[in-house]
Amino acid sequence: MTGDGRVRRIAVLPGDGVGAEVVAGPAELLEAIAAAGRIELTGPWPVGASAFGELGTGLPEPTLAACDDSDAMFFGAAGEHPGVSLDDYRPEHSIIGLRQRYDLRVSIRNIVRVDSGTSSDGAAARPLIVLRNLLGGAYGAASTRTESDGSEAACDEVILTPDQITELAAMACDLVERGLASSIVSADKANLMATSRLWRSITGTVAGDRGVPLRHTYVDRMAFELAHDDVVADTVVLTEGIFGDMLSDLAAGRAGSIALCGSASVNPGEPVQGRCVGLFEPVHGSAPRHAGQGRVNPSGAYLALAALLEWFNETAELGPVVTGALSEALQAGPLTYDLAPAGTDPATTESFAAAVNARALPRLEELL
Ligand code: IPM
Ligand code: MN
Repeated sequence: MTGDGRVRRIAVLPGDGVGAEVVAGPAELLEAIAAAGRIELTGPWPVGASAFGELGTGLPEPTLAACDDSDAMFFGAAGEHPGVSLDDYRPEHSIIGLRQRYDLRVSIRNIVRVDSGTSSDGAAARPLIVLRNLLGGAYGAASTRTESDGSEAACDEVILTPDQITELAAMACDLVERGLASSIVSADKANLMATSRLWRSITGTVAGDRGVPLRHTYVDRMAFELAHDDVVADTVVLTEGIFGDMLSDLAAGRAGSIALCGSASVNPGEPVQGRCVGLFEPVHGSAPRHAGQGRVNPSGAYLALAALLEWFNETAELGPVVTGALSEALQAGPLTYDLAPAGTDPATTESFAAAVNARALPRLEELL
């Protein structure tokens, strides 16, 4: 969380496939917040394979200039685009490029459940949070990779510094201290990897010094616990980037849909390029099989919007309105095809978004 009282500027980048469809509902809420003068909005700006198809680059200069000049990016999806071959343009290019450009070195993912919100202390209503490094570790720069033409070994180096681990552990403690979770589970592979042994020692010390409850577990055990529904909500899973990449998808799968996960990629320090410190997106990607049909679940984009609002002190109070409206709409139904019970008519992207916005807009207006 960060803030200095400025009006925050948000660049909207719908991207590829279903990106524009899922961004439309949350964008209405952003427009209402902008109309009240609480944020500034720019875009939509082209990005990803669709931008490559049209402009010959996945990260066009005007898009980058607009992002430099914004505090955060509200992003739809990066993936495939009809007519653009994967040999010419790789879907991950834009996301990785933006992470590197703005030093978005930490990922915070929120995973919600459709049946959340029932416990009296609200713990089940809180999401499961996965916090991981996005640069460094297994997500090292190109210099940590040795490609192979097939005749020699390939190599990916995993390098983690004490400072990187300390920053991540401190951020996990911040989330607990802000009441967003009640404890941390740190998942590593300390029975195999040197980086994990350093991880275990530093995360334990940081949480111990802060008095935040932290349990260590091996990442394979963590996968079992998530799949077995032993860890459902109210917890920060603190883990290395590549472990967290897999565990966040696993947790979303257990929750019932990849659309129940929102993603924040942030630079918790000073901006390194312009003023941009975060990229907020649903994790589901461009879903080319579903694009253009108006049927996908926009929940991940709403979770991303809530995370964006909560990242900045100036708008933090607005975030829970979005998550509250989303969780009510998920409980009330009708649900989109991915979650709708068999034999029922699924909601469309638009009708589900309308159900969320009908709940959120009046409450936002009271706060704006
Ligand atoms: C994600 C994606 C990325 C990651 C890829 C595209 C590099 O899987 O955002 O989860 O591994 O972080
Ligand atoms: Mn992933």
